[in-house]
Amino acid sequence: MTTGPVQACSSSPDQTRDLAAAIAELARPCDLVLLVGDLGAGKTAFTQGFGRGLGVDDQITSPTFALVQSYTGRLDLYHLDVYRLEQMNEALDLGLSEMLDDESVTVIEWGDKITQALPRDYLEVSITFGEAEEDRVFELRPVGSRWQARMRALTVALSAWSLSGESLSGESLSGESGTGENPC
Ligand SMILES: Nc1ncnc2c1ncn2[C@@H]1O[C@H](COP(=O)(O)OP(=O)(O)OP(=O)(O)O)[C@@H](O)[C@H]1O
Ligand SMILES: [Mg+2]
Repeated sequence: MTTGPVQACSSSPDQTRDLAAAIAELARPCDLVLLVGDLGAGKTAFTQGFGRGLGVDDQITSPTFALVQSYTGRLDLYHLDVYRLEQMNEALDLGLSEMLDDESVTVIEWGDKITQALPRDYLEVSITFGEAEEDRVFELRPVGSRWQARMRALTVALSAWSLSGESLSGESLSGESGTGENPC
């Protein structure tokens, strides 16, 4: 079965952490999640909640200067921020392939900058700004089969944050699907 992207809405940093934790409940060893969004969109806030969902107790902070940080949890987490990388091979120098071969879960902020260096099997989470100052719109897009197989479960897990009336079949209950408008 092929499903389209799943959307979710947040209206506070805590809601972003909660919805990210719900996504993490579905994570498996060796998963890769790419976070895409402008400065201040909430990629690090998302990772904090995602880590909580993986059972990470330590405080997750932005790895902007360290580039990569690792955390121990029910599933271990690698958290990367590749904003400052200037060349693709710098991503490989970080030991990316070793991280992905590990039994951990890897989350990469600005991951869209380095897709050429990544396996084509990941969940892309795009974060855009909504109307109010703290509104954020999340779009989850599976690339490859690993996450594709979990999109239905993701839709269910995120139903509390879906304000668009999307049903499990991907059709809008309000009959207004496909307008491309902000669902929040
Ligand atoms: N709904 C929301 N979700 C997440 N963050 C929010 C939300 N509303 C407001 N914020 C604020 O937006 C900022 C998000 O910061 P964060 O560091 O998570 O962004 P980022 O995408 O990681 O930025 P950068 O590209 O600099 O790494 C925080 O100051 C947070 O309090
Ligand atoms: Mg960040």
